[in-house]
Order: sequence, then C-alpha cells, then structure tokens
Amino acid sequence: MKDKINEILNAFNASMTGASTLDDLEKIRVNYLGKKGLVTGLMPLLKDVPFDQKREVGIMINSLKSEVEGRLTKEKESMEQKQMEQSIKSAKKIDITRPCDTCVGSLHPRTKFQKEIEDVFISMGFNVEDGREIETEYNNFDAVNVPQTHPARDTQDTFWLDNGELLKTQTSASQNRILRKYGGPLKVIFPGRCFRNEAVDHSHENTFFQIEGMMVGENISVANLLYFMKKMLSEIFKTEIEVRNRPGFFPFTEPSFEMDIKCPYCGGKGCAVCKKGGWIELCPCGMIHPNVLREGGLDPEKYSGFAFGLGFDRLVMIKTGLDEIRNLNSGNLKVLKQL
Ligand code: DAH
Repeated sequence: MKDKINEILNAFNASMTGASTLDDLEKIRVNYLGKKGLVTGLMPLLKDVPFDQKREVGIMINSLKSEVEGRLTKEKESMEQKQMEQSIKSAKKIDITRPCDTCVGSLHPRTKFQKEIEDVFISMGFNVEDGREIETEYNNFDAVNVPQTHPARDTQDTFWLDNGELLKTQTSASQNRILRKYGGPLKVIFPGRCFRNEAVDHSHENTFFQIEGMMVGENISVANLLYFMKKMLSEIFKTEIEVRNRPGFFPFTEPSFEMDIKCPYCGGKGCAVCKKGGWIELCPCGMIHPNVLREGGLDPEKYSGFAFGLGFDRLVMIKTGLDEIRNLNSGNLKVLKQL
C-alpha cells in the first residue's frame, strides 16, 4: 500500500512537470482527485490494510491528498497570473487622457445647450458661476426679498435638511452670494439644479434646471435686459428672435416681467410647439429690487440691474421637440440619443 501511494505521488509529479495549460491541470485534477481518481480510490482500500498500519497509511493518504491539492491550486494560480500578465501586455493600450474621437458616449442635451448658452454670454462679457444645491433659508428666500411670511414661499416648498438648510428652489438663491462676491458693476450667469416638492407629470419635475443671470451697473435699464435676452435666444434658435414682455410679479424684481418669444417654428402663426398661440412663455425677468441690491451690499441709489431666471428644461424641450420632461432626468438613452 505504501508503495502504491509513493507510485501515485511520483506519477503525479511527473504529470505536473508536463502540464502547461489550465486544461492540463484540470485533466490531472480529475485523474487524481475526481470521483474515480487515483487518490480518491485509495481511501476504500484502507479497510484491507493490517490494523497496526492503518493509522500510518491513513496519514500517508491524507498527506498525499493535500500535497496533490496544494500543488494543483498553486500551479493554477500561477498560470492564471501569467495568463493575465500576458493579456495585459498584449492588450491595446488606451491613453485615458486623450480626447475621445471614437467613444460612444455623448453630451446630455441639457449639457450641450448649457454650454452653448454659456458661450453666448461669455462672448458678451459675462462670467459663469456655479451655485450651491444646498442653500440656507436666508439665501433662498430672505436675501431675495421673500421674508418668512411672504405668500411666495408657499409656491416653492422644497426638501429641508435637519440642520435647517434646504435644497434650493430657484437659482435666484445664488444672487446674494454673487452680489457680495463681485460687488458692482457685474455681469454673471449662474446655471443650476433646483428642487421643489412638486407632483411630477409630463411637464413638471421635482428636480429641474434654471439658468439665472444678472447684470448690475450704473444706468442699467430694461433696454439692456431686452438686448441681452434677444441676443442669447437668437443664437440658441439660430434665427432672429422677437421677444415681448408682459407684466409679471416676483418679489426680487421691480418691475417684473414674463418674457415671451415669438414662436421660432411658425413665425407666430401658431403651431404645435406654441400650442397655436404664436408666442412661447420662456423667461421670467425684471429689474432687480432695491432691497435685493441692498442686501447684497450694493447701493441702490448708485446701481441698478436686471435679472432673469430662464426655465432651462423648458428651453431644451422646445429646442429638441421633447414633450415629456421626465425624460431629461431619466438617463433613458433611447430617448436622449434622439435629441
Ligand atoms: N426665481 C424665479 C422662479 O424660480 C425665476 C425668476 C424670476 C428669476 C424673475 C429672476 C427673475 O432672476 O428676475 O420662479
């Protein structure tokens, strides 16, 4: 029996020397450790071994088994390691710092239009600022002339944090920080994500984007507002855009307007995009309220300015023909790829 064990070990060692692939190893494993394997077959033979040798032979069989298992595992690991090194060596090298010319990904339509709008404003001398998404109650409301008791707060319920801060309901929440950062005069746009506690449907989202802008200086008037908005919209729609201002109300502007654009798709005749009205409501705006300037550290006797808060998702929808706002946040490539 002892001879048989030694023979098996020698044979195993010999076959291991000839093994060069994982397949070879697997064959050897089955041959020695499989159900009908040579090592497996030793145990039943133990019953015929004379009683005084049983213990010794039993130990020999067990150590043969662990020797075989151990060698196989070690060899397998080392072959896998070599295989991996080989495939890394032969793999096509990718320079991840190189601008991609063949990748499948593309910019989200929102990102694409945001960049376009930023470029237009940058070309007109505006800076672009990032606002926060988590804001203080003061910046979101009080600093833009919406005190605690103001009814406008009811229309902008949002998600509150335990520490009393909130997810900003409007990009106007950044106005105060920007006024304080730049002082006057200034020309800044600040795109950003906003949140409201809204019932979601095809045209309402609880998470949406606005692009806000402010221009402050001496003698800034509604004429400046009209000029910059017309210019930006004409660039975006690649055609001369006509705008009209209707009276509106916002606590942070006085006077306040609702800016409409003459439908660029039908020239005002009425179509599906403008819902037959000929005009599309696009951008609330106005002249910055003296209280907002004062709260931002600017003297309203010296400075005036305009502000606007473009409903950016709406613009993207008009521009792309998308009629379901939820698709913008969905990551649904089937839709996004078509925009
Ligand atoms: N913050 C307003 C809103 O979310 C939009 C807005 C209106 C912004 C007028 C402005 C503005 O800067 O002047 O409804």
